[in-house]
Amino acid sequence: MQRNFIVTGGSSGIGLAVIKKLSDDPSNRVISFSRSRKKIERAIRDWDLKHKNVEFIEGDVSNDADCKKLAGYLKKNDYKVHGLVNAAGVLTRGGIEMIDYEQWKFNLDVNLNGPYLLTRHLLPFLKEANGASIVNISSVASLRPGTSIAYSVSKAGLDMLTEFLAGDLAPYKIRVNSVNPGLVRTPIHLDNQIFDNEKEYEEMLIKSTERYPLKRIGEASEVASLICYLLEDESSWITGSIFKIDGGVLVYNDLLPPKNSK
Ligand SMILES: NC(=O)c1ccc[n+]([C@@H]2O[C@H](COP(=O)([O-])OP(=O)(O)OC[C@H]3O[C@@H](n4cnc5c(N)ncnc54)[C@H](OP(=O)(O)O)[C@@H]3O)[C@@H](O)[C@H]2O)c1
Repeated sequence: MQRNFIVTGGSSGIGLAVIKKLSDDPSNRVISFSRSRKKIERAIRDWDLKHKNVEFIEGDVSNDADCKKLAGYLKKNDYKVHGLVNAAGVLTRGGIEMIDYEQWKFNLDVNLNGPYLLTRHLLPFLKEANGASIVNISSVASLRPGTSIAYSVSKAGLDMLTEFLAGDLAPYKIRVNSVNPGLVRTPIHLDNQIFDNEKEYEEMLIKSTERYPLKRIGEASEVASLICYLLEDESSWITGSIFKIDGGVLVYNDLLPPKNSK
């Protein structure tokens, strides 16, 4: 049976890793939804050409008209939607004194309003699949204050959206779950100018590994494996759950240092 999956932010990082996994099954049709042509071309250039079952559609998840257009495309082609992965995300660094209102709105628009808009517009197609799954990509920053006030708040809102939708959409057999990664090496930090240069970024990655009990940061493919599990019927009794995937970084609480740590 042909199944259709929509992955926002499929041109890069975690979204791209999901697309790679899903497209390994030739009976899947995978549709990526993201903004920049340049990033799409970067993804296609690095692409294993045997994967022909992927379409890259340009659009902004925070733009109502773009989301409507995607729904129109699905309707025109008579596509049901078996899975929606809300992976598109942005990150602007800083606390209340650094983040201005424009940046605040930008983070909330993409990271929180985007998943809301897409879920709303794609609902008719998700219902038709009779057992669809939505996976929202949140962050451990939703559970503890992190690099950015706007990002943390947007992701905390996304966690609640996940839980709310799980109850709301259960009558339609639509499951909704959240995957909350710790630090994963993807272009997000450099593409969003979180660091001035690559050297600074690499130094941060090395420093960060120390905070992780498993002494390493994550790979996009590891996060994609959990996302793909939640898309499949193997996870058919899981809904409304928030899954940390973080090398154990939230195990320790700074207020309570572990007795045996060196
Ligand atoms: N990497 C990490 O350490 C980490 C940790 C925790 C959570 N996450 C979350 O994981 C998700 C994926 O992040 P990533 O690390 O894979 O980042 P990434 O490599 O920068 O990929 C982000 C993707 O989102 C797309 N995107 C951004 N704004 C968009 C918009 N308005 N409309 C449509 N697409 C948009 C980007 O393409 P365009 O810019 O061309 O649109 C790109 O394809 C994000 O939600 C992020 O918050 C990442």
